[in-house]
Amino acid sequence: MNKRFEGKIVAITGGSEGIGFATAKAFIAEGARVYITGRRQDRLDAAVAELGPAAVGVPGDVANTGDLDRLYARIREDHGKLDVLFANAGVADSDALPLGDITEQDFDRIFGVNVRGLLFTVNKALPLLSAGGAVVLNGSVAGSKGFPGQSLYNATKAAVRSFARSWTADLKDRGIRVNVVAPGGTDTQLMRGYLEIRPGADEMLNQMVPLGRLGRTEEVADAVLFLASDQSSYIAGAELVVDGGLAAI
Ligand SMILES: NC(=O)c1ccc[n+]([C@@H]2O[C@H](COP(=O)([O-])OP(=O)(O)OC[C@H]3O[C@@H](n4cnc5c(N)ncnc54)[C@H](OP(=O)(O)O)[C@@H]3O)[C@@H](O)[C@H]2O)c1
Repeated sequence: MNKRFEGKIVAITGGSEGIGFATAKAFIAEGARVYITGRRQDRLDAAVAELGPAAVGVPGDVANTGDLDRLYARIREDHGKLDVLFANAGVADSDALPLGDITEQDFDRIFGVNVRGLLFTVNKALPLLSAGGAVVLNGSVAGSKGFPGQSLYNATKAAVRSFARSWTADLKDRGIRVNVVAPGGTDTQLMRGYLEIRPGADEMLNQMVPLGRLGRTEEVADAVLFLASDQSSYIAGAELVVDGGLAAI
């Protein structure tokens, strides 16, 4: 198999579980050296052990800019460059949070990771990113939907979609492409937490999705690798939806 990422340096925030982990695995299978982050050290260690010697774990929270500085200092020290950045880390509340119940703490927590954290993840990577490099942002179909009780999360993902447009313009002279992958319901810990407290929600979701099931993390990873590879060399500022058709109908 032709390895698309031989010799490439990749950073993935929130790579110790779920979509980020599956993506790390896929990049490594195609020759990359991958730096993953996460807040729980034990989970990060377990992920690195499973991924093997091409993976490096750097503990950290994307909401903490000091942690991002440590991540990029480590990559600079090891390789002096970064070819691909997957800004993946994000949080969602399992419980519904309808308008009227939202507190300032809720806003700061969710926007702090999904918007502020993602913005500084990319902002701080810029000095290291190579010409011709690729940035993939993890959005969501929620960014273009009005899922009830989820307005904070939905709005953060709409902001992510918007960032890809503006940053494509901002980075045009450096040849760095920025795109969004927008998963629908994908079988991860985050999604399981949401479904567990809503009996029957999995059945309802499957009926809403034309392909009739949740997505697999590997299916999102395939889309991320496409957006990061030369195969998408003329795609910039775009959103690639991986949702079994949910948002299309
Ligand atoms: N699953 C879905 O259905 C779905 C659908 C659309 C979009 N998404 C998006 O996909 C992304 C990943 O979600 P997932 O479903 O894969 O979640 P997940 O299974 O819960 O995994 C999240 C990963 O991110 C890390 N993480 C969480 N908060 C972090 C933070 N503040 N700083 C650094 N790392 C952090 C977690 O490790 P620690 O907890 O140890 O930090 C873990 O490695 C999110 O942006 C989410 O919004 C998911």
